[in-house]
Amino acid sequence: MSEDMTKATESVANGTKITAQVDYREFAKDTASVIWGDCLAVLKQTVPDASVDLIFADPPYNIGKRFADFRDSWPSDEDYACWCEAWLAFCFAKLRANGTMYVMASTQSMPYLDLYIRKHLTVLSRIVWHYDSSGVQAKSKFGSMYEPILHCVRNLDSYTFNGEAIQVEARTGAQRQLIDYRKAVPTQYNVTKIPGNAWYFPRVRYRMAEYENHPSQKPEALMERIILASSNPGDTVLDPFSGTFTTGAVAQRLGRHSISIEREVEYVKIGLRRLGISRIFDGEELKPLDKTYERRNGKAKHDIGKSDQRSLFE
Ligand SMILES: C[S@@+](CC[C@H](N)C(=O)[O-])C[C@H]1O[C@@H](n2cnc3c(N)ncnc32)[C@H](O)[C@@H]1O
Repeated sequence: MSEDMTKATESVANGTKITAQVDYREFAKDTASVIWGDCLAVLKQTVPDASVDLIFADPPYNIGKRFADFRDSWPSDEDYACWCEAWLAFCFAKLRANGTMYVMASTQSMPYLDLYIRKHLTVLSRIVWHYDSSGVQAKSKFGSMYEPILHCVRNLDSYTFNGEAIQVEARTGAQRQLIDYRKAVPTQYNVTKIPGNAWYFPRVRYRMAEYENHPSQKPEALMERIILASSNPGDTVLDPFSGTFTTGAVAQRLGRHSISIEREVEYVKIGLRRLGISRIFDGEELKPLDKTYERRNGKAKHDIGKSDQRSLFE
């Protein structure tokens, strides 16, 4: 962060002071806005209350990952919970009366975040995003192969859910089309359905076109399901922890407005390029990742480095 972005402000959550960066820089074009800064300060200062239809929050998980200059590690679970409650409280305030929020967290911290969130929103679904991995995840326990996602709404009587937009195949196990003879007029069983709460999407891999250099990029397919289900064209989608700006990119493709906040400048540059806002940042040309598929000693060169998607608990 540049020197002019290092002044501190304080916000209070549950009686505990949280320090955040005051300054921010906003870059916008058409329906997309990228804000470089600490989400606590940005949410406090720039986003009007009750103005957002959908929030997707994928914060650092407190598991020691490195996000550019930021180390994802708090002194204790209590400190981490306190920080989460501060940004969650801002998010709750930004949601419209019929708004929806999705929150991701590690399996360890989701139980206590769930307790806090359900005091303010109704949790409609506890979703499991699971994936596979060719690598060994753990040697003396069952490796972590899923991440929890809470689907919450402000008002149980009025919220957006476009079930028809996210249909998946309804597998009956039969090869031929089955007829339901219990109906007055026998009809064919539905061949599509709304997905259940266990979602399989592959993690973003180096060779995938959407891959960016970030340790926990979420797949576009995951964001597409969330945005299609819980917002309408023209709605505003907010992501306080944008990383590679997957939320903003998918929102843009689906005709939604987006506000994407990110603290690390290296990732902000990805957002400016990915959302087509700018090709230049402070004189630097923003180019897509130059991928190499060269093999060294039988191993792909990118496997040797540490930039690829990795297990949650490595
Ligand atoms: C789990 S990643 C989000 C990944 C994102 N969903 C994607 O698809 O790429 C969390 C991101 O939050 C950023 N971050 C950490 N603390 C932040 C803060 N206080 N305000 C804004 N961004 C922050 C990190 O730099 C990191 O890129």
